[in-house]
Formats: sequence, structure tokens, C-alpha cells
Amino acid sequence: MTTETFDLVVIGAGPGGYVAAIRASQLGMKVACVEKRKTLGGTCLNVGCIPSKALLQSSHLYEETTHDLKAHGIVVSGVTLDLAAMLKRKNDVVGATTKGIEFLFKKNKIALFTGMGRIEAAGSVAVIGEDGATTATLAAKNILIASGSEVMPLPGVTIDEKTIVSSTGALELTEVPKRLAVIGAGIIGLEIGSVWRRLGSEVTVVEYLDRIAPGVDSEIVKQFERLLTRQGLKFKLGRKVTGVTRGETGLTLSHEPAKGGAAETLEVDVVLACIGRRPYVEGLGLDKVGVTLTDRGRIAVDGHFQTSVPGIFAIGDAIDGPMLAHKASEDGVACVETLAGQKGHVDWDRVPSVVYTQPEIAWVGKTEDQLKAAGTAIKVGKYPFAADPRSRANGRTDGLVKVITDAATDTVLGVHILGAEAGTMIAEAALAMEYGASAEDIGRVCHAHPTVSEALKEAALAAWDKPIHL
Ligand code: FAD
Ligand code: NAI
Repeated sequence: MTTETFDLVVIGAGPGGYVAAIRASQLGMKVACVEKRKTLGGTCLNVGCIPSKALLQSSHLYEETTHDLKAHGIVVSGVTLDLAAMLKRKNDVVGATTKGIEFLFKKNKIALFTGMGRIEAAGSVAVIGEDGATTATLAAKNILIASGSEVMPLPGVTIDEKTIVSSTGALELTEVPKRLAVIGAGIIGLEIGSVWRRLGSEVTVVEYLDRIAPGVDSEIVKQFERLLTRQGLKFKLGRKVTGVTRGETGLTLSHEPAKGGAAETLEVDVVLACIGRRPYVEGLGLDKVGVTLTDRGRIAVDGHFQTSVPGIFAIGDAIDGPMLAHKASEDGVACVETLAGQKGHVDWDRVPSVVYTQPEIAWVGKTEDQLKAAGTAIKVGKYPFAADPRSRANGRTDGLVKVITDAATDTVLGVHILGAEAGTMIAEAALAMEYGASAEDIGRVCHAHPTVSEALKEAALAAWDKPIHL
């Protein structure tokens, strides 16, 4: 058994932990990372962002080939689906990406310990092997918890990852289910529901709230729901799922009105349960060392990511803020830069979010509803992609850009985009907001023509004064 001393021991090698480890090493610290998975990259690279985006891309190409090419004068016939090849490609993308992190760890001389990290005391982490034996003890000046999150369980729905699946099983189905029920119209439900709908499943999404995609601007979400419905997704809103039972011909999902009332059932072949994720803090030994949790079960931290115990820090999905990979990474960088004597800070209000359906939704900052509820005097500028020449040339005219500003100062407070390339476009809005830009600032920046990003310029001009092309 090895006993080694490090400046920083990171527990978890997801986008929070691995980025923090690399940055700490760049800043001159001697760093170790303990990861219980055999591969690096955490939820995001192994079973989250990357495999889901690989299947979203493949299923998008399949749908374009079978439905959209005709409008461009391209006639194809005999298109068939090789699901095994699609899944293999997805696994290859994941493998290459996780291997890339191994390379970066070697390059940055980060000592990797495979096993469960358990904090014994401030300054001490035990690495526990699969058989429960301690394989190493690491002494650390500082410990950083980046243990991520896990699927939120739903009473009455027992996940077997074969026919009743979480997102993990839903990215591995070896046959296209004829009938798929999705519990929860959040990001996972809409993205993975779209994958299987494109590949031929009849998809019904059962959602507790009266709307889909909680968190998305309510004006944008109305258009979004119409578009997804037109694509063939079926929504049952305001319905609470109470259980799933197994019968001879498939699964029976029971649901009732969220406000109370008569129950109904839905017969399907596969159920995807995705009602949210919760922090994963099991086995870390938090109780023993006195690290406290918030009332929502997340690790409580101060403005510098320090937990209730000096020398123990936490970032990413395990703490408050949006459960997003890039937020976890920014937390990690800010935390270790602070440890190195610099001034690390992340503004969670300026973390962009993207839903990778087609069209995509992307936003940064506050929604119109949030600002109105706070009594802020705002101006709203909108520009539809139907008015944008490049979007017309691309045949992707659904959606709009919405820029919300402070009515008194013109400062941009929120940008919301529904559109084919919304996820790429939102980076410009995030940059502008990070620099405290006004709508006039964005409107005066020269945008290349013809690009879809001109729609952001026009929406900014609309918020400031007047758009040119509307
Ligand atoms: P994680 O990535 O969960 O990593 C934590 C790591 O810690 C894991 O590898 C775990 O094995 C390890 N660990 C935990 N406890 C211990 C321990 N005691 N000892 C050793 N190791 C331990 N976010 C986006 O921004 N964009 C997306 O497109 C996106 N798509 C997603 C799709 C799906 C299907 C899912 C499920 C999530 C998606 N997310 C996406 C969310 C994203 O995956 C998470 O926000 C992100 O992974 C959080 O990073 P993290 O480092 O905090 O935790
Ligand atoms: P979510 O929180 O986005 O959505 C869960 C949905 O389930 C909500 O709409 C909720 O009202 C509903 N719900 C809860 N209980 C229910 C019940 N009993 N019956 C019916 N509906 C019910 O959670 P989701 O989709 O599981 O995703 C988890 C997290 O993973 C996301 O919040 C996000 O942080 C991350 N993620 C991010 C992605 C991205 O950035 N593109 C992609 C996928 C996941």
C-alpha cells in the first residue's frame, strides 16, 4: 500500500474534477485524482453529454436523409438503419474522448488512483478497491470533492436498464422500441426522446408540470413544444407518474393528473425515467469529517468552494448551481486558482444552457418572466430566423432570437435562442454578458454575412433601437 503526499487530491474525474486537476497541475501543484470508474471523464464523457450528442447527431443525419433531402433536390432511396453500427460509433467516440483525458493526465503528471475515494480526515484520503480493501492512503494539503450526481429515483419505477431505463440504458438500447414512454419533459427526456423518435419509436412524454422544459423562457417554450409535437413527440402534461408494472405484452405506466383526479394507463415497450439528478455523495465519509449538506442534499460551500471543513472543497453537480459540465469545469478552475492565491470566480447566472434537440434551445442570463417577477424594467428585442437569409438558404427557418435588456441602461440581461444553431450562437451572448455589453454594443459589432449569427445582431438592434432587416 502506498502512502503519498500531494498538494491537492481530487475525488472524481468528471468535467469538474479532471479540469480542476489539470489546472492545479499547470499552476505548479502536485496533484492526485481518485476515480472509481475504470475510464475518466465522469458522467459527461461516459454516459452523458458525449454519448447522447453522438446519437443525436447520428439520428439527426438519419432523419435528414429520410425526410429533408428531397426539398434540396436530392433523391435517395433504400435508406436503412444499422443501429448496431450507430451504437458502435457512439462507443468509439466515447472511448476516444475518455482516452484523451488519460493522455492529458499523463501530460500534466497527475497521479491517478483507481478506486473509491473516502475522506478519513481533513488532509487524508483513502483509496478503496473493489474488494473493500484500502489500496492507498493519500496525504493532501487540500481535498477537492468532484463526485458529481446520480439519477433521481422515482417510487414505483424500478430501473433495470433493459426495458425500464435511465438515460444510461436509453443510450444503449439494441433495438428501436416500438412504443417508448418518457417520464419527465426535462432536458434528458426531450433529447433522448428525440433520438428514438427520429429512429422510429412512437414516443409519449409524461410530464408533471403544465409545460415542457422547465427553466426555458415561456415564450420560447410554446414555439418549441409546437415544433416537437409537429415532429411526432406526444406530450401528456400536468400528469404525475405513479408506477410502472410489467405484463405479458409490455409495460403499463400509470399516471394521474398532478392536481388530483382519475388515473390513466399507457401501454409501452420501454420506459425512460428522467425526473432529474441528485448529488452523489455516498461513500465519501462526509458525516465522519463533518462536511455539511444543504437542505436540498447538495454539499454546502462558501463563495470559494470551501465546505464546512477547512481544506475540503467541492464543485460541480455535487454543489449548488446548474448541473452542467461546463459549469463544473469553471467551478474547478476557479477553486484551484483561488488555492493558488489567484482570484477565481464563477457567475452561475451567466452559465449558458443548451438543449440539443432540433431546433436547439440555448439561453444565458435571466428569462423575461424572472425579470418581470423581480420588477425590473426591461426592453425585449426579437428577430425570427425566417427573416434571416442564411437560415432560409439552409432550410432552417424555425425559431427566433430574443434579447432582453435593462430598459434604463441597455445592458443585456438575458438572451434566449430557439434555432438550428442556437447552441453555437449562445457563446457570443455569454461573452457579451460577461463583459457587461449593451444591446447597442452587440448591434454595432460587424457580423459576417451570410451567417445565422446575424440574427443575434438584429435582435440586439431591435432591443436597442430598430432592426435593419425587419
Ligand atoms: P460527474 O461527471 O458526475 O463526475 C463525477 C465522477 O466522480 C464520476 O466519474 C464518479 O465515478 C466519480 N466519483 C464519485 N464519487 C467518487 C468517490 N467517492 N471516489 C472516486 N470517484 C468518485 N451537461 C452539459 O453541460 N451538456 C450536456 O450536453 C449534457 N448532457 C448530459 C446528458 C446526460 C444523459 C446526462 C446524464 C447528463 C448530461 N449533462 C450535460 C450533465 C453533465 O454530465 C454533468 O453536469 C457533469 O458531468 C457534472 O460534472 P461533475 O464533474 O460534477 O460530475
Ligand atoms: P430535469 O430536471 O431537466 O427534468 C425533469 C422533469 O421531470 C421536470 O420537467 C419535472 O417536472 C419532471 N417530473 C418530476 N417528477 C415527475 C413525475 N413523477 N412524473 C412526471 N414528470 C415528473 O431532469 P433530467 O431531464 O433528468 O436531466 C437532469 C439534468 O441533467 C438536467 O437538469 C441537466 O442539468 C443535465 N443535463 C443537461 C443536458 C444539456 O445540457 N444539454 C442534457 C441532459 C442532461
